[in-house]
Amino acid sequence: MTASSLSFRLAVLCVIAGMAMGIGMAASQDHSIMPAHAHLNLLGWVSLFLFGIYYERRPALDISRLAMIQVVLWSIGTVVLTIAVAAIHLGYAAAEPVAAIASLIVLAAMLIFAYFVFRPAHVVEPGPTVRMTPAE
Ligand code: HEM
Repeated sequence: MTASSLSFRLAVLCVIAGMAMGIGMAASQDHSIMPAHAHLNLLGWVSLFLFGIYYERRPALDISRLAMIQVVLWSIGTVVLTIAVAAIHLGYAAAEPVAAIASLIVLAAMLIFAYFVFRPAHVVEPGPTVRMTPAE
């Protein structure tokens, strides 16, 4: 599996869980876990999908082990952070160190991504863009 297809799949799983969480909050009229919902949707759905688009445009990077590690690290960090943030907002202050560790995991994953983005241009050059030409 490539890093992009893993990103897209995990992103969709995150948004399904995030939407279910949002519906649950709306139905119960209890928005106390709103920060967990926001983090799951923005780190899990939006960011993972953006990583997927970046990797898909760079086929050499898309099949690299480090890109895969970046996606897996990001996803683990996001899930743990979401659970810890929800627990904190439900009154379990003991989850704070877990949230702290998870936040360092997502930071580490973002630093790996930053390394890809800042590498010399020839290494990270995007593949050719498919252009549709209208029939004459
Ligand atoms: C079925 C879909 C969704 C439902 C039912 C839903 C529901 C909610 C609810 C009830 C809140 C709390 C609002 C408040 O207390 O002020 C909220 C907040 C939020 N949601 Fe969703 N949501 C959904 C999908 C999404 C998605 C897809 C995203 C991001 C891509 C998202 C991002 C956010 C953010 C960032 C907040 C925090 C807003 C703030 O700080 O005021 N939500 N959502």
